Amino acid sequence: NAVKVEAAQLPIPPLLEDKNPDPDKAEFHLTAQQSTKEFLKGKETETLGYNGDYLGPVIKARKGEEVSVKVKNKLDEATTVHWHGLEVNGKQDGGPHSGIQSGESWNPKFTIDQPAATLWYHPHLLHKTGEQVYMGLAGLFYIEDEISESLDIPKEYGVNDIPLVIQDKQLFENGTYEYDLTMHDIMMGLQGNVVLVNGAIQPYLEVPKGKVRLRLLNGSNAKTYDFQLSDGESFQQIASDGGFLEKPVEMSGLTMSAAERAEIIVDFSDYETGDIVELSHQDYDLMKFVVTDQESKEYTIPEKLTDIPEIDTDTAVRTREFVMSGMGRSVSINGKQMDMDRVDEEVKLGDTEIWEVSNDGSGMMGGMPHPFHVHGVQFRIIDRGGDPPPPNERGWKDTVNVYPGEMVRLIATFDHSGLFMYHCHILEHEDSGMMGQYEVDE
Ligand code: C2O
Ligand code: CU
Repeated sequence: NAVKVEAAQLPIPPLLEDKNPDPDKAEFHLTAQQSTKEFLKGKETETLGYNGDYLGPVIKARKGEEVSVKVKNKLDEATTVHWHGLEVNGKQDGGPHSGIQSGESWNPKFTIDQPAATLWYHPHLLHKTGEQVYMGLAGLFYIEDEISESLDIPKEYGVNDIPLVIQDKQLFENGTYEYDLTMHDIMMGLQGNVVLVNGAIQPYLEVPKGKVRLRLLNGSNAKTYDFQLSDGESFQQIASDGGFLEKPVEMSGLTMSAAERAEIIVDFSDYETGDIVELSHQDYDLMKFVVTDQESKEYTIPEKLTDIPEIDTDTAVRTREFVMSGMGRSVSINGKQMDMDRVDEEVKLGDTEIWEVSNDGSGMMGGMPHPFHVHGVQFRIIDRGGDPPPPNERGWKDTVNVYPGEMVRLIATFDHSGLFMYHCHILEHEDSGMMGQYEVDE
């Protein structure tokens, strides 16, 4: 069921206007709305979007800034807006308790208190996250700080600093799609037949002869990607979920599970005008880079990007265990399914803890990987199956893929209070109850 496409230029989401003239404050307006869009020429389908027909604008805020977001819900059902990766209190986190009824508004206010990073936002309504994200509600949230602004890295938005929201869709030949789960989707999470980049199928992007920074978000409901460049060239990963890595890591392939982000630098300086390089993946061609004759400024990516202090495991005051089990509707964490009225774990404000997250491999054919996400914190990976994490997983993370039979140890300091979620980011698993709640309190 291949769909025929005419290559379109890569859409670049607009940067959301900051309505507050005060440089230390920001005010953003976001409206969740229904719309229609043509993924295939001349063939319209119903979509959801923020301030537009599909996906949302990029929100950009600075460390230390006081941010106010006015969210309006123009959908005909409730929604929430969760700031994935942002360290804010539970009340501002936008989880399933922050439902915004149809026609209503929500106005969270928070101060940005974490390093530069590529985060994202999406709905988190109980049992509805998968559908609302799939229909188009998702956007990127950039944090900048003195480090991201001073490093000699590409930072011209849409020119050599490019957002890439990657999502697969089950698109029908008539150009429509809908969230209609098959038994297989419920088991494994929804898997598409096409991959969209910023809402376009196999788009192309003209790139200068020089270094280009790609900010990748795996915004798919369930799929894990193994990205590479079609000519086998390597690239440098400079950031993971929660910010810059200490040093760039040279990679020839990059695996990203649902909700993970990575920033990579691809160097096009040695290509000829007109050369085409594809960003590819085991099953799909995702997009093409077309090298233009435009010369770009020389960037010398520094050997050292930032300092990431180790969190000493001796400072952890306790260790908790989380066991992810099952597939389909029988998924659970520690044998339990999500209950809005039950707090599963209580954490003391300011404490550092070790979380041992495992995947017991239960389910058909030895189970499947589950990307584990924790709200309210950025964590570090201590080890994976007893081994130190690979270099590109040594920075700040908020989502980690846990393979069947594997145990991953995380360490985090819980500096924000309130009620937060932890869950599998395969949205069909989350919606089936593979989620729990923890509360941080004095
Ligand atoms: Cu990306 Cu609980 O979410
Ligand atoms: Cu899962």
